Amino acid sequence: MSMNSKYLWMNGELVEFEKATIHFLTPALHYGVGTFEGIRSYATNQGQAVFRLREHVQRLINSTKILGFREFPYSVDELVEAVRLTVAMNEFEECYIRPLVYLTDGGWNLTVDGGKPGVGIAVWEWTNYLGEEALEKGIRANITSFTRHHPNVMMTKAKITGNYANSVLAKTESLRYGFDEAIMLDPQGYVAECTGENLFLVRDGVIFTPPTAPVLEGITRDTVNTLANDLGYEVIETPVSRDQLYIADEVFVSGTAAECIALREIDFRVIGEGKMGPVARAIQGEFQAVIRGRHARSSEWMDYVKEPVVAA
Ligand SMILES: Cc1ncc(COP(=O)(O)O)c(C=O)c1O
Repeated sequence: MSMNSKYLWMNGELVEFEKATIHFLTPALHYGVGTFEGIRSYATNQGQAVFRLREHVQRLINSTKILGFREFPYSVDELVEAVRLTVAMNEFEECYIRPLVYLTDGGWNLTVDGGKPGVGIAVWEWTNYLGEEALEKGIRANITSFTRHHPNVMMTKAKITGNYANSVLAKTESLRYGFDEAIMLDPQGYVAECTGENLFLVRDGVIFTPPTAPVLEGITRDTVNTLANDLGYEVIETPVSRDQLYIADEVFVSGTAAECIALREIDFRVIGEGKMGPVARAIQGEFQAVIRGRHARSSEWMDYVKEPVVAA
């Protein structure tokens, strides 16, 4: 994957790719005190549009509040505009968008006070996160030996950069064992989430998902809930045990990068029919229609980078 692009937005201005650098002594790099978002922009027949942009920007600002920054230099509207500008100026057909807030100088006493937040926005051309085959066939996962955060240790509602060392530990272990993704249990031993995705299971036509306390409030998770309800499925938030996954009819995950992907095997147990099941397929179909601008909910969730092109 090439992360190259023409411009990044850095602290209020567009800068060329090579010039978007920060210093080795930036405290964020040393202590993991940054916050970020992962957002995607899709090609639609009315031009390029960003999926649920305002909600992602709001979550970024919430993450900085959780991390303890008392002041943040940009409003939601300003950052929404900055993202649109960065996407438009880079002229990719579709792209991944990575805003990041980082603690600049002054954080050496292990507080965020005294430093100040810097903000950058990068975009890069998108290639499928878990591979083309994964969308159709589903992927293989295992329960990682690394526990997901307790909310009194690392804040689970915030995308704080340091939190992701936990995801990296888990995912590296799972990939080395030959799996595609890691399922993380919370400190009580119930299913929490994957390294970058929320998780759902289906049993007898009902969808279940872990409560939000120990996990990130995924924007795709919320989208799946809404689309599932629109399709007439009940989605129940309830603690989920590891063995409930093994005997589910379907297990699938949701996230900005992965979209909606089935887990066809967990801990060497085949899940359901061992491929994407009907519920995941139906939701994935709706999701694809949304992001291509062809769904009744597209106008609510797609943020056009330029004025939409109205067909003649
Ligand atoms: C730990 C974790 N859980 C869940 C998700 C899914 O969230 P979203 O659907 O907002 O991308 C992500 C990705 O951002 C994540 O990093």
